[in-house]
Amino acid sequence: MDSLPTPSILIDRPRLLANLRRLQSHCDRHGIELRPHIKTHKMVAVAREQLAAGARGLTCAKIGEAEAMLPSGVRSFFIAHSLVDPRQAPRLAALADQLDDLRVAVTSELHFEALERLAGLVGRRLRVMMAVDTGLGREGARDDATAERLAGRLAGSSRLELRGLYSHEGFFYGLPPAEHEAKVASMLDRLAALRDRIDPSLALWPGCSVTAARVVSAAAGRVQAVRPGAYPFGDLYLTRVCASMAPEDQAIHILATVVDKPEPGLALIDAGSKTFSPDRTPDGVHGLPADGRDFAVVRLNEEHGYVRGPATDSLQIGERVLFAPAHVCPVINLTDTVVVMESGRPVATWRVEGRGRTQ
Ligand SMILES: Cc1ncc(COP(=O)(O)O)c(C=O)c1O
Repeated sequence: MDSLPTPSILIDRPRLLANLRRLQSHCDRHGIELRPHIKTHKMVAVAREQLAAGARGLTCAKIGEAEAMLPSGVRSFFIAHSLVDPRQAPRLAALADQLDDLRVAVTSELHFEALERLAGLVGRRLRVMMAVDTGLGREGARDDATAERLAGRLAGSSRLELRGLYSHEGFFYGLPPAEHEAKVASMLDRLAALRDRIDPSLALWPGCSVTAARVVSAAAGRVQAVRPGAYPFGDLYLTRVCASMAPEDQAIHILATVVDKPEPGLALIDAGSKTFSPDRTPDGVHGLPADGRDFAVVRLNEEHGYVRGPATDSLQIGERVLFAPAHVCPVINLTDTVVVMESGRPVATWRVEGRGRTQ
């Protein structure tokens, strides 16, 4: 590790593979497909591992992300975003040509009209998953009547083919863990009843990293796939805020160097918001040391992290510290490459091919 420049993003490969296999075998045991969202890792190498472990397909937000992941050998992709831009039609057609199964989202009645126009330009019938809002307040039918009306319009469309319903439970990151089980149960009851009223043969694809394992356990034959993104690596949200993952399963860390101790109780590191991203936990933490010492990254400038806490004065200038970040997704999107570690040694460098592919 001493050979690495700082700041560096380190991936613990055995932990990463264990995280992939754990959720995959849970899904396999319950006969549910895992269709990971690649927004977190954006790396062909990780997509390959997910597919090798048994993932049935991948999910992304943007066409550019899907294009970047094609070298993984993926054959099935769901673009979970409200596509509207007619200029994207040729790219969508090219993507469909390279996949066995391309699905896109339909997210409201107004969006349905824009998507129909786009499908006309693509020149082929698009398979769609209908978004249902389960509490995030972003895309998706706000109530069942709206969802059923939209399904009715889809049934009459020659350009769009309804294949299923999906939801994204990002708001679980802000719920007390004690509420997760009951909220997952009521959400599944509602989604499954809605799906059955529209058409029992439609697929139901809920799930994020906080809810995926619980959704799978509670599905009882009602869910066909889950689409978590952050589960391969974990972050302080998943381990400490949501208690969805054990801290010892955290597979990504930021290696930073202590560069100054300008006053008692404060150490400065060479990783700031351009490495950690500005995201922080509800109690204001951008990063915690992997070795459990009692200090935290509590403030960031672009290239400086402010470390405070009772153990701060034990830090030495030049010392290298591994930090778990508050939120993994933007951390990876801020770096061109990650360093792959095994038994404490760097063994490979992976490129983040989907970095910045926001179009
Ligand atoms: C539509 C959709 N599906 C799945 C996910 C994955 O969620 P998570 O990162 O919590 O696993 C996201 C994340 O933003 C999303 O927007």
